[in-house]
Amino acid sequence: MIELQQVTKSFNGQKVLDGLDGTVAAGECLVVMGPSGSGKSVLLRHIIGLLRPDSGKVLVEGKSVPDLSPEELRALRRDMGYLFQSGALINWMNAHENVALPLRETTDLGEDEIRSRVQRVLALVQLEQAAEKFPSELSGGMQKRVGLARALVTEPRIILYDEPEAGLDPEMSANINRAIRQLKEELRMTSVVVTHSINCALTVGDRLAVLEHGRFLVEGTPQEVLDSDMPRVQQFLGAKRD
Ligand SMILES: Nc1ncnc2c1ncn2[C@@H]1O[C@H](COP(=O)(O)OP(=O)(O)OP(=O)(O)O)[C@@H](O)[C@H]1O
Ligand SMILES: [Mg+2]
Repeated sequence: MIELQQVTKSFNGQKVLDGLDGTVAAGECLVVMGPSGSGKSVLLRHIIGLLRPDSGKVLVEGKSVPDLSPEELRALRRDMGYLFQSGALINWMNAHENVALPLRETTDLGEDEIRSRVQRVLALVQLEQAAEKFPSELSGGMQKRVGLARALVTEPRIILYDEPEAGLDPEMSANINRAIRQLKEELRMTSVVVTHSINCALTVGDRLAVLEHGRFLVEGTPQEVLDSDMPRVQQFLGAKRD
């Protein structure tokens, strides 16, 4: 379970999160949409402990993330996968090594077990043939999928996806959305998905929240939010309908 209470964060005097409240129950998938620059990635970085709030609380499984010791943070990162918006692969490591990284950093598994786990998640994103390739040799969509494999490799109970299907062709985005839903249904993963795609929200989301001016403007089932009669929500989402 993830709980955000009155979270406030400013950069250079500009308030990005402004008393944000939100909860993600165990096994639930919360989709977050909102204009570019509204703070969606900043929100995810608070949950994984890469950013500290100026005030307010960030709790994961009842523990206050900003107050964790380095050792506790390492344990948290084993339990929590993060698909970076940019992919954020390490250029001088091939796909296999990039995916193996969280296992090396957060577990004491042996080489054989690491290899078999990496192969398993690379197969899940249909990249078993690309294990030896370096990021510069992969297309943008392939890099994104390596990032997804890396987020999944520790078999986390919680996973945060920052625009999982951005930059992918329609068939591959549908595959990724299906994989996200499957992980939730089969492994009961708790997840937060940031997206600009209504289709993604409808496919994977139990709930949808729209972030603007530092808080959730509206929250509900994806269908409820889409049907909402709030003018600002319609204005924002309306522009995204095909
Ligand atoms: N580390 C940082 N230092 C300074 N400003 C930052 C930092 N991280 C984010 N910001 C600012 O916070 C605001 C929100 O950024 P964020 O990346 O969360 O937007 P977003 O909602 O994810 O947008 P997009 O949909 O384009 O990805 C932006 O104005 C950004 O410039
Ligand atoms: Mg972002």
